Amino acid sequence: MKQELAKYFSLDQSQITLFWKGRVALYAIFKALGIKEGDEIILPAFTCVVVANPIIYLGARPIYVDIDPKTYNMDISRIENKINNRTRVILAQNTFGLAPDLDKIFEIAGKHNLTVVEDCAHGFGGYYKGQPNGLIADVSFCSTQWNKPFSTGIGGFAITKNADIAAKLRDIEKTFTKPSLKEEMVLRVLLFARGRLGTKLYWPAIKTYRWLSKNNLVLGSSQGDELEHPVMPAGFAKGLSETQANLGNRELGRIGQLMEHRKKIAAIFTKQLQDMQIEPPYEPEYAEHTFLKYPLLVRDRETFFVLAEKNKIELGDWFLSPIHPIIKNFERFYYYWGDNPIAETISRHIINLPTHSNISEDYAIHITQFLKENRDQIYGSYREILQ
Ligand SMILES: Cc1ncc(COP(=O)(O)O)c(C=O)c1O
Repeated sequence: MKQELAKYFSLDQSQITLFWKGRVALYAIFKALGIKEGDEIILPAFTCVVVANPIIYLGARPIYVDIDPKTYNMDISRIENKINNRTRVILAQNTFGLAPDLDKIFEIAGKHNLTVVEDCAHGFGGYYKGQPNGLIADVSFCSTQWNKPFSTGIGGFAITKNADIAAKLRDIEKTFTKPSLKEEMVLRVLLFARGRLGTKLYWPAIKTYRWLSKNNLVLGSSQGDELEHPVMPAGFAKGLSETQANLGNRELGRIGQLMEHRKKIAAIFTKQLQDMQIEPPYEPEYAEHTFLKYPLLVRDRETFFVLAEKNKIELGDWFLSPIHPIIKNFERFYYYWGDNPIAETISRHIINLPTHSNISEDYAIHITQFLKENRDQIYGSYREILQ
């Protein structure tokens, strides 16, 4: 898979390291950067809690920054306020596949001698000012989990053009354990089952899978404890298995097709939303959006999900809270409710429409029919909520 990724990024294989999950790649990056107790990492207050966890595992502190409701990315104008002499890294996330305005982030990082790490978990396949996401920051990581731009079931990798960081990451990669035969077998079974899952079975399947993985009964994206306490689970620091690498090679072989498909489905949603006087997601000049997820804001999310389930409409729930999917005990993750009012409000109303390869054009139209029937439940723009 290193060879295929190196080809995609026009890099050398030595600049890529492979890990069991994206969060493990992020942990390896922080270790390579020498992040230690007392350091502070700036990240958006609209992310997955597994991004905050590796920071805390190393004794450092996540410092959350509120978001720009237009892009769902970190509000760059709020970053400098959060910088002090403990700050080491700005984590630049490309939420739903849209890169933040990285040049502005580099300017701040340069002024304060900080490292920029790109969280490319959603943004692989997209571009910032003509350069592929993941290749721009000092070091980046991607995820190849089920819902990501290309999937190996679970998985992740780090990319860097910096020779020193690359050498450290390779050393770290060597010390991580290999996934067990059992873990590989379970993953194969899940991949087989997932391949046969149509959109009709989405709701029962997703509920069962989440329950099983939360209770550690099946190999899940997150183990139960990870979502309760920021304590590193046993066996966290693992490399990528052969099963994942083989699948990754296959998927990378059709990456152009996968990205084109997402764009085509997103264009259907955009056209239909415009007809309904709903503002589509923002697409700035500086970036090419991957539309990993297509965000929409609804008045009452619980009611909307009940309606969707009844109508067999596949919908996503990213991000349910500023540190998804945490809805209580925020302080355990150094998140203090009330600090980021925009992210807190948006995360109460956001849903996402799917764009992945199993979503046909007909099914996308079917989704938009459902949206039309429930137009009164949908906000025309984030401004309606935030005014
Ligand atoms: C923004 C973001 N970054 C990182 C991750 C972690 O990726 P992984 O599940 O591969 O550890 C996720 C997980 O969904 C995510 O949403």
